[in-house]
Amino acid sequence: MVNVGIIGAGGIGRVHAEAYGRQPSCRVVAVADVDPERGRRLAEAVGARYVPEAEALLARPDVDAVSICLPHALHAETTVAAARAGKHVLCEKPIATSLADADRMIDACRQAGVILMIGHTHRFYPEHIRARLLLQDGAIGRLLFANDVIWAGRDGDESLQWRGSVALNGGGVFMDNGIHAADRLRWWIGAEVETVSARIGHGRGLIEGEEHGTALLAFANGVTAMLQQALGTPRATGCCYVELVGTEGVLRVDTWRGLRISTLGKPWEDVAVPKEWPGGFDAEIGEFLAAIQDRRPPAATGEDARAALEIIQAIYRAAETGTTVRLPLD
Ligand SMILES: NC(=O)c1ccc[n+]([C@@H]2O[C@H](COP(=O)([O-])OP(=O)(O)OC[C@H]3O[C@@H](n4cnc5c(N)ncnc54)[C@H](O)[C@@H]3O)[C@@H](O)[C@H]2O)c1
Repeated sequence: MVNVGIIGAGGIGRVHAEAYGRQPSCRVVAVADVDPERGRRLAEAVGARYVPEAEALLARPDVDAVSICLPHALHAETTVAAARAGKHVLCEKPIATSLADADRMIDACRQAGVILMIGHTHRFYPEHIRARLLLQDGAIGRLLFANDVIWAGRDGDESLQWRGSVALNGGGVFMDNGIHAADRLRWWIGAEVETVSARIGHGRGLIEGEEHGTALLAFANGVTAMLQQALGTPRATGCCYVELVGTEGVLRVDTWRGLRISTLGKPWEDVAVPKEWPGGFDAEIGEFLAAIQDRRPPAATGEDARAALEIIQAIYRAAETGTTVRLPLD
């Protein structure tokens, strides 16, 4: 039985807590949040103890593992503290707001001998896994290029709270949603990014950071990807999809909706996903617990998440300098 602590009882803290609740091999024993009302509400809902501060939760001997569900700028210090306290860590994406912080997190967990997994949920959606298996089976031939588009629809100007602050978010929409695209493209394409060019911009003034942008990623295996992000298009236009184009066909992945394929001479066909495959967060939490139990690296490691962060940092540098940026970044 793994005893889990949730640090950050906001939107995704609740999703993690509920997903742990569906696993037989763990229980949530403590919830920390600086907002007592939120923290208490979630703790009560899952039958756990509420503590105001992350430090107090990490000091508890009955906690074996933590989910860190905090604003981005708090991921590094909280992960390092958790590792020093001997707790396994599932930290939400992005791993950190700088590569130096990501390195500190990876080192701290390695030294403490604890698991570090980053919540790159897009590796766990059934339609995404099915698409990866089809790519690996050569269903669309040799992969040539990909288009990855996420538009976060938003009609009103409701507050984006800490996401609106560059200091807490680490940037704008690329750090929040673009990091998913960077990770899933690297995961599907199966190679590292060599060069990046990009343009980013502001929009309706919803946040301090960038609200839209388009990047061109050149992968070492010859595949090219277009990565487009937008925040604040009309809600009805919100979308999250990828087109993977190969020599013999095209896969179209609509996240949360499904997957289609067309191969030469054939129309679009829906691809079924096995009904017994768990949903994204259930699969992600299950993988974290399995990695703890089997003492093996999880499916989304600190190093994977660092690579995704490096792509986003390269996009920022390319946009700022108007040049093509080569990875690894110095
Ligand atoms: N994987 C996904 O699909 C996905 C989806 C949404 C959010 N996220 C990630 O989850 C993380 C949290 O996002 P969210 O949407 O839940 O934000 P949120 O604002 O809903 O929740 C954050 C919580 O952290 C609490 N908090 C802030 N500082 C704290 C501190 N020092 N100690 C304890 N609690 C503190 C806040 O009171 C709040 O309740 C971010 O990294 C975000 O990118 C991931």
